[in-house]
Amino acid sequence: IRIAALASGRGSNLQAILDAIAAGTLDAQVVGVFSDNPDAPALLRVPEALRWARTPKSYGSRAAFDAALGDAIATAAPDWIVCAGYMRILGPDFVQRFQGRLLNIHPALLPKYKGLHTHQRALDAGDSEHGASVHFVTAELDGGPVIAQARVPVLPGDDADRLAARVLAVEHPLLVGVLRLAAAGRLAERDGRAWVDGQ
Ligand code: GRF
Repeated sequence: IRIAALASGRGSNLQAILDAIAAGTLDAQVVGVFSDNPDAPALLRVPEALRWARTPKSYGSRAAFDAALGDAIATAAPDWIVCAGYMRILGPDFVQRFQGRLLNIHPALLPKYKGLHTHQRALDAGDSEHGASVHFVTAELDGGPVIAQARVPVLPGDDADRLAARVLAVEHPLLVGVLRLAAAGRLAERDGRAWVDGQ
């Protein structure tokens, strides 16, 4: 499968995808990395020809930025589009354009803790477990159908950084695992639900 990745920052989830491809455990190719942050370290993980980055401020509106982003993605002709640490909200037109093949990884056990600061919120709530979710993107922020989750314990002495690191370690295999399902043709969004063959 052809994968387009959207990333705003570090790109360790993107790297996990690249590593799985290189190891032969994910039958895919990354056909582009797209960012709202021209300084995102994630961009440096792929050859220059595969990078697209624009500053949203240089566009007149969210819709105009999203349209340019969407056109660039469409040019790369991906089968699947993965938000891997993409920190900008995608507007409804963008979501509709790619719905059904648009995935996001979110560092919480959805439906808990949509949005930002998930690790601190899990700590503040006194949760004994936390984790990450991969879901189909819909117009509702972090609200689309969940495909798979990974759990970690919250441990005594945790702060948001320690907890984030523990979650990140399970994000990488979680995301790669979902992409493996996609590559095998075993994943789809049907009637507003995540359909996984064999589940
Ligand atoms: C991850 O925790 C992801 O779930 C969240 O932002 C972080 C991005 O990490 N949305 P990276 O850029 O993939 O290293």
